[in-house]
Amino acid sequence: MQIRKLKLNEEPPMELLLLADPSRKFVDDYVKRGDCFIAEYDNEIKGVFVLLPTRPDTVELVNIAVAEDEQGKGIGRELVMNAIQFAKLKEYKIMEIGTGNSSIGQLSLYQKCGFRIIGVDRDFFIKHYSDEIYENGLQCRDMIRLAQDI
Ligand code: COA
Repeated sequence: MQIRKLKLNEEPPMELLLLADPSRKFVDDYVKRGDCFIAEYDNEIKGVFVLLPTRPDTVELVNIAVAEDEQGKGIGRELVMNAIQFAKLKEYKIMEIGTGNSSIGQLSLYQKCGFRIIGVDRDFFIKHYSDEIYENGLQCRDMIRLAQDI
């Protein structure tokens, strides 16, 4: 599998990006402002992540997704570790990530990759998303904020 930055003339893999974030408006905005990376195998895009500089020395992993039929095979972990390596090369000092209170698998993955919870943006998904989101039998209301020094 090859992980590389999307070229300027290439379309971002919208279907994958929307798996991680149902807001087309948010996705369009951060894909324009950030760096989009894709993971390819057999000439097909299997994964994506987007890095967005936020504050001095800080970059946020604002989107990460793996094609549904490829999930659970370690690609997500590889993408997170690749994002950290890229951010280190660019001399960022802190990486942040946010996920829903109901995103149990994602919370597990991010903590296994070294992130720690730093806060909760209460009612973020209620305030900013028009449709209600349910996962794992829970309503997604709050954004759990995680970070790590890199
Ligand atoms: N419950 C518990 N742990 C889970 C899990 C779940 N549902 N899903 C993943 N994990 C953990 C695994 O325990 C695994 O740890 P291990 O290697 O020690 O077994 C670790 O996360 C990595 O799993 P991996 O196979 O690399 O994850 P993946 O390739 O399926 O990618 C996502 C993870 C989240 C990127 C992928 O599931 C996805 O694209 N989901 C839809 C989009 C999305 O929700 N993006 C994130 C938005 S915040």
